[in-house]
Amino acid sequence: MKIDPQQQTFKDNYKLMIGSILPRPIAFVSTISTEGVYNVAPFSFFTGITSKPPTICFAPTRRGTDGAEKDTLKNIRDTGEFVINIVNEAIVEAMNNAATEYPPEYDEFKETGLTPGPSEIVRAPRVEESPINMECRLMQIIEIGPPEPGGGFLIIGEIVLFHIRDELLNNGRIDTGKLQPVGRLAGAEYTKLGERFTLVRKPFSKR
Ligand SMILES: Cc1cc2nc3c(=O)[nH]c(=O)nc-3n(C[C@H](O)[C@H](O)[C@H](O)COP(=O)(O)O)c2cc1C
Repeated sequence: MKIDPQQQTFKDNYKLMIGSILPRPIAFVSTISTEGVYNVAPFSFFTGITSKPPTICFAPTRRGTDGAEKDTLKNIRDTGEFVINIVNEAIVEAMNNAATEYPPEYDEFKETGLTPGPSEIVRAPRVEESPINMECRLMQIIEIGPPEPGGGFLIIGEIVLFHIRDELLNNGRIDTGKLQPVGRLAGAEYTKLGERFTLVRKPFSKR
C-alpha cells in the first residue's frame, strides 16, 4: 500500500510516524520560566546530532487541539537553557504524569513528586531521580510547518555538562543494562531493553 501524506490528516500521518519510528528514546526536558516556575515534560521526537560540540535536538509540536505553543518551547526561547533528563524504568510513571497539560503557572515537579536538583551551568533544574542529566544551551529553534495543529518546532541545543551516576560509568561508557532505559512505542505503549546482540562492523576490503 502506498499512502500520500498530502491526502490525509496530520493525525493520520502522526500515527504512521509513531508506529514506524520506534522504539524512541525519551527526552525528559526540564526548564524554568521567566517567572521562576519549574517545568518538566517528555518528548520522544528526540535524538543526538553531533559530538563536537555535543548536540541534541527534540521537537515540541504545537498543541493538537488549538495549535498553542508548549510551555517547554516558550521557556527555552525565553531563557536559552534546558536540561535533558534520561528516562529509566524507575521514573516512567512520573514522566507520564508530567505529560499532562498543566497551565504554565503549575510547577510540574510538585505535581509529579519529582525533585528539582541544582544545575551548575544553567538555571533550569535537573530531575534528581533521573540517572543522566545533560545541561544544555539553546543553539537554534527552527519553526516547521504552519502555525496550527500538526506544525511545530525543532530545538537544537549544545550539551554543556553531563551528570552521570557513578555506577553507570565503565571506562567512559554507559552500562546500558544498569541504566534500564525506557523507549516509547505508538500511543500508550512503551518498551524496556529487550534481548541485546552484537554486530561487529567490517572494514572495507576490495574483492
Ligand atoms: C512519552 C511521551 C513522549 C512525548 N513526545 C512528545 C514530542 O516528541 N513532541 C511533543 O510536542 N509532545 C510530546 N509529548 C507530549 C508532551 O509531553 C505534552 O504535550 C506536555 O504536556 C508538554 O508540556 P509543556 O507544555 O509543559 O511543555 C510526549 C508525551 C509523552 C508521554
